[in-house]
Amino acid sequence: MSNRRDFMGMALGGFTALGGIAALYAMKRTWDPLPSVKSAGFTTIDLKDAPENVLITEKWRGKPIFVLKQSKEMVEKAKKSKEIDRLIKIGNDYYMVAVGLCTHLGCIPGYNSDDKSFLCACHGGVYDSTAMVTKAPPPRGLDIPPFRIDGTKIVLGEQGPEYKKMLADGVTMPV
Ligand code: FES
Repeated sequence: MSNRRDFMGMALGGFTALGGIAALYAMKRTWDPLPSVKSAGFTTIDLKDAPENVLITEKWRGKPIFVLKQSKEMVEKAKKSKEIDRLIKIGNDYYMVAVGLCTHLGCIPGYNSDDKSFLCACHGGVYDSTAMVTKAPPPRGLDIPPFRIDGTKIVLGEQGPEYKKMLADGVTMPV
């Protein structure tokens, strides 16, 4: 009987340890920056393992770049508010990719994942999760950098057809 209890205790302990390792691994993947390569004015980011609703900050030509993978609810909201055009579809997923400088006077807004909005602390400007401005003074949404989609990767600094369409439709301004 006691052998059986020992065995159950060990098995349970093993499961608990495995669960702990899995949780640590998941946390580490969230903290790790996404794989990216920078060269001569281009930044390539592999979005394959991007977590939903976790802001990733990269750099392109010295500017901060925000990347935010949208959850299903965020995509539905963007469709309703007609901001879906600001999002970049890669595979089956949608991403907000923008230069992380406020379009008012250039401060860096902070992301609140609970209410899924960006607040610019300098003068109180607010952007939604598509980086469209929802509270003045910023005059427009965050600018979208030139990009090209390459499989699960996005190449910043190149103008792919999706970016050219955004420019033509007035979704963003040239950066
Ligand atoms: S710089 Fe962002 S609100 Fe003024």
